[in-house]
Amino acid sequence: MLKDLLEARLAPALHAAGAPEGSAVALTVSTKPEFGDYQMNGAMGAAKRLKRPPRELAEAVLAHAQLDDLVSEASIAGPGFINLRLREAVLEARLNPFEAEVLAPRGAGAEASRVVIDYSSPNLAKEMHVGHLRSTIIGDALARCFDHAGWNVLRQNHVGDWGTQFGMLLAFLNSLEADDGNRVAEAELSDLEQFYRRAKARFDEDPAFAALSRETVVKLQQGDPACRAAWQRFIDVSLSHCEALYGRLQVTLTREHVHAESAYNDALPGVIETLRDQGLLQESDGAQCVFLDEFKGKDDAPLPLIVQKSDGGYLYATTDLAAVRYRCDSLEADRALYLVDKRQGLHFKQVFAVAQAAGFITRPCSFEHMPFGTMLGEDGRPFRTRAGDVIKLSDLIDEAERRAEALVAEKNPALAAAERTEIAKAVALGAIKYADLSKHRNNDYVFSWDTMLSFDGNTAPYLQYAYSRIQSLFSKAGLAPESLKASVKLEAPQERALALVLLRTEEVLQQVRDQGLPHLLCTHLYEVATAFTAFYEHCPVLSAPDSGTQASRLALARRCGATLRQGLELLGIPVVQRM
Ligand code: ARG
Repeated sequence: MLKDLLEARLAPALHAAGAPEGSAVALTVSTKPEFGDYQMNGAMGAAKRLKRPPRELAEAVLAHAQLDDLVSEASIAGPGFINLRLREAVLEARLNPFEAEVLAPRGAGAEASRVVIDYSSPNLAKEMHVGHLRSTIIGDALARCFDHAGWNVLRQNHVGDWGTQFGMLLAFLNSLEADDGNRVAEAELSDLEQFYRRAKARFDEDPAFAALSRETVVKLQQGDPACRAAWQRFIDVSLSHCEALYGRLQVTLTREHVHAESAYNDALPGVIETLRDQGLLQESDGAQCVFLDEFKGKDDAPLPLIVQKSDGGYLYATTDLAAVRYRCDSLEADRALYLVDKRQGLHFKQVFAVAQAAGFITRPCSFEHMPFGTMLGEDGRPFRTRAGDVIKLSDLIDEAERRAEALVAEKNPALAAAERTEIAKAVALGAIKYADLSKHRNNDYVFSWDTMLSFDGNTAPYLQYAYSRIQSLFSKAGLAPESLKASVKLEAPQERALALVLLRTEEVLQQVRDQGLPHLLCTHLYEVATAFTAFYEHCPVLSAPDSGTQASRLALARRCGATLRQGLELLGIPVVQRM
């Protein structure tokens, strides 16, 4: 990475200039291109600790740093920033290895770091709806980014398949089968949402049925074979609905990544036992709870994490404690990321703290809740249908495809129907995913068809279009991008600017992994596409002044196309050759 290159020279210089041990170089991308490419901010912090004038320390850093081969300009600005401008030769040298070498995924080795990513994790009692979209999309993008960097990625789809709702659903299923004297046809379950609603209505109005539902949960949890078999049938249908959606969304989750709540059932008594042994358990209103000093509710009242109800039943939190143990001990994770709605923030804070206190975290593993906000409609309220129902994911994708098809037909009426449909699918998928991924995940975001399907601005169609424009450059030149052997020579300022952005990709990907923030990659790709547009406007490619310049510009365009394709792929978004 360019940044590492500079840091390796600046860190010893900072030290030699007298900065205290462990002073940070604090290198960042320059805020304005006219200042340079990177700026070092660390002289100011170190000077403060030394009680020396910061500009003087900055001078000393520059006097000690050996930068000549890397940097064409180094200057001190303001209170003690050091602005650095890289030599073109340095950029060219890093740009020129054939892209396959640079961009290829690393492939995880046995010693690779291990990351658990808990994402999607829908509740199987109902059909997946837009509420699960964010976790699925953001989690999948992160999983792809870690995969690409050579981490060992352990996808965990922590689906909800246990608990009282299933008693109700099974009792309902049984009652239908009894009426019918037969196994209920798959068709009954094809619309899970309907099925759930009917069961719930019965539960609410028929006390005998409600009682039966409660008995059924107990039977299920005790392992009654008939109950288990019916439950398994239900879960299979529900999971296959999820899988159909994963397929349409091009999400990398498969059946082998499902590690359901029920899988922790046998581990729950052990969780309670350890908590008791550690002296952490306290009874409150008949329930077993853990109280930690750091958690206080209203009026400073102690806030419990409830782990067992008075009837002996376990809770969501108990399962999550068991999951922490499993992820630590069995999966040997170095990091465990939880892509879950921010409304569960307190739940995870408590679970991680209790797990820590109980000694469940047996190896250096960082447990990180990566929260996200709510998807809102254009009226600023949670996204729903006109009638106020939750929107089914499959309906949402259908609508996106319909809208994208109309848009593509309008943009390019000459396309054959089959190609148009293929492009529309890519545009629709890109639009849905990118609209979500391009915002900081912590915030709520407004779902707007017009914005996400626009060909201008920071949108998927804009990036896909930029990619296809590069491809058409090659087809017009009658060249396959891979066959090009030329290397890049940076001359025009727009060429240099584009090169610099392209070479920052690795740094950005590192930040995406460190902070779990895919929007940083989106912003970066948008910068790439914008820099490409400026380059394309100022630096003719097909009508370049000479063949050497043309070849160099094509090589730069090729690298740009590869970066866009790869960046979009890491976000789970397909590209197309033409649009
Ligand atoms: N099934 C839960 C829900 O729909 C999300 C589970 C998240 N993962 C976890 N380990 N708690 O809210």
